[in-house]
Amino acid sequence: MEKERFYITTPIYYPSDKLHIGHTYCTVATDATARYQRLKGKDVMFLTGTDEHGQKIEDKAKEAGVTPQQFVDNIVDGPKGIRDLWKLMNISNDRFIRTTDEYHVAAVQKIFKKMHDNGDIYKGKYKGKYCKPCESFWTESQLKDGKCPDCGREVQDAEEEAYFFRLSKYADKVRDLLENTDFLQPRTRVNEMIHNFIDPGLEDLCVSRTSFTWGVPVDFDPGHVVYVWVDALFNYTTALGFLNEQYHDYDKYWPADVHFVGKEIVRFHSIIWPAMLMSMEMPLPKHVYGHGWLLLDGGKMSKSKGNVVDPYLLAERYGTDALRFFLLRSFPFGQDGNFSNELLIQCINTDLANDLGNLLSRTAAMVEKYFDGQLPAVQEEDPMDGELIAMASALRDKYEAQMEKFQMQNGLEETFKVISRANKYIDETAPWVLAKDEAKKPRLARVMYNLLETLRICGTLLLPFTPDSCAKIFDQIGASTEMTDWEAAAKWGVLPAAAKVHKGENIFPRIDVEKELQALDAVQEAARRENLPAIELEPQLTEKVDFDTFCKSDFRAVKVKACEAVKKSEKLLKFTLDDGTGTDRQILSGIHKWYQPEDLVGKTLVAIVNLPPRKMMGQESNGMLISAVHTEKGEECLHLLMVDDAIPAGAKMC
Ligand code: MSP
Repeated sequence: MEKERFYITTPIYYPSDKLHIGHTYCTVATDATARYQRLKGKDVMFLTGTDEHGQKIEDKAKEAGVTPQQFVDNIVDGPKGIRDLWKLMNISNDRFIRTTDEYHVAAVQKIFKKMHDNGDIYKGKYKGKYCKPCESFWTESQLKDGKCPDCGREVQDAEEEAYFFRLSKYADKVRDLLENTDFLQPRTRVNEMIHNFIDPGLEDLCVSRTSFTWGVPVDFDPGHVVYVWVDALFNYTTALGFLNEQYHDYDKYWPADVHFVGKEIVRFHSIIWPAMLMSMEMPLPKHVYGHGWLLLDGGKMSKSKGNVVDPYLLAERYGTDALRFFLLRSFPFGQDGNFSNELLIQCINTDLANDLGNLLSRTAAMVEKYFDGQLPAVQEEDPMDGELIAMASALRDKYEAQMEKFQMQNGLEETFKVISRANKYIDETAPWVLAKDEAKKPRLARVMYNLLETLRICGTLLLPFTPDSCAKIFDQIGASTEMTDWEAAAKWGVLPAAAKVHKGENIFPRIDVEKELQALDAVQEAARRENLPAIELEPQLTEKVDFDTFCKSDFRAVKVKACEAVKKSEKLLKFTLDDGTGTDRQILSGIHKWYQPEDLVGKTLVAIVNLPPRKMMGQESNGMLISAVHTEKGEECLHLLMVDDAIPAGAKMC
């Protein structure tokens, strides 16, 4: 019988910066769902990739002094790049598309031409606002306080000859799709789309640009490149072979069963994407699921804010499976969640080390100790076993109900209820007491068997989340592949009593929370600093000062006669200076962080001496010492300007 198909996608990522834990979250969620569908026996196509065109990439490449292609190649395929990250995270994608792949570029040109020829793309003049980092056009009415409604950054005026897509023509059909079907999930996203975009009225969408060149060229109108979102969205079909000969799976897998996307790009996937597919007379994807964001300290992670969490660091420290598990166990998929190191470590300790790891190591150790790793034929169950057996036997269906709704967190919750129940069952049955009485050995064997079976069923259902660790569980409890498939997960009594059990490595060792939090904070801080620019300089002022104004500032050489820290101030030093006038001059300067007062006595410095007097911490300062300042690896650096001691006090600097 032919297998049922399941086509699932992640968004294709912008290779403008290294990916962070938020991107990893989205891909791991897709991977777990793809693995779950494979476990159910479906023929799965799981696509991910990279979205490589657009002005942002062109600008970044210029800044880095390389071509846009070299720039994206490095982030996609370079060391610790996107492909490496997915390998590390054990992502089981079947295909990887890059929008710079030739077959995709040629297909997008054909798609654009087709929509042009059918009258849905026309030429006009674009006047509006453009958010460069988001590559998004906005109308005035869509802006929030004059800024980009997605990222809150400044937008710029844009006016140029451009092609437009007749989005307005599809407004009613899209409204119907959103309101009257389960196309877009969770339901809260539907309300957002209707309220923010459909109700105010859909305007036609600008779908070409002429002000930069890094994009798919419009082949019938040189100078125009296709708007990056049109190019990007069609990846879901070109990667299957739509309008190209690279692949031949379009008829097999399209329409997609689900596109997983972050909430800020739901608009593109649930309004623009279906409208363009309608224009192309192509079937619509069955579902779009708009998941929430992983936040850090309540805000979105972003490279520019310097608050990104590095998945490499975490996976290398705690293991891929632990990180995958944490991401899907801790946050409800449709909502935002707050990432913290503490939550990560607690999650590993509680569920993986205390509950699952402990259940496995206790069970395997007891089977080894009491039965040399192999149980005798097991006797009938006892009424005391009923609850555990009933829970484990019913688990697959409960788990399935959640996974079908993309509620991975709840699927795991159901599984861990059974794991906790099994740990409690050990305490209730007290195997170490049974072991003391030879007559109770058959009962002891039955208790052990119940634990092994629970581990087999739970291990099977955890396969989509922690695949490598599940393989270790199966190895330790002696379960073969046929015993850990979808059918077997709904059955009790699959493992033969004589299965060979051995206690192996501790799959999830417990972490010392306090110690580890300190160590992790330190490592992350060091990594953050490492990623900061080596040296940052204040931008030079472009506004000119006329010469006469400049000459009004009186710079003099001054010699430090005395210097001391100002009481109750962490920053201020008080200088007594010889400025050549015969009267001591007092200047206060906030440089204690960089200098000890005793090191400065006798030095020849430069001061501006005709500033009006200023009071600081109750003391008068007459002038200002001149320093050189810059930032190094995020750290402010300051050097007092010191000149040759041969220069006499009071000499004018000009
Ligand atoms: N290139 C577009 C997608 C085109 S799909 C045809 C894009 N790329 S992206 O790299 O900026 O983001 C990719 C995905 O990562 C988005 O779904 C986005 O929501 C997700 N995430 C980025 N930061 C995130 C968090 N902090 N938390 C969760 N997901 C987030 O958008």
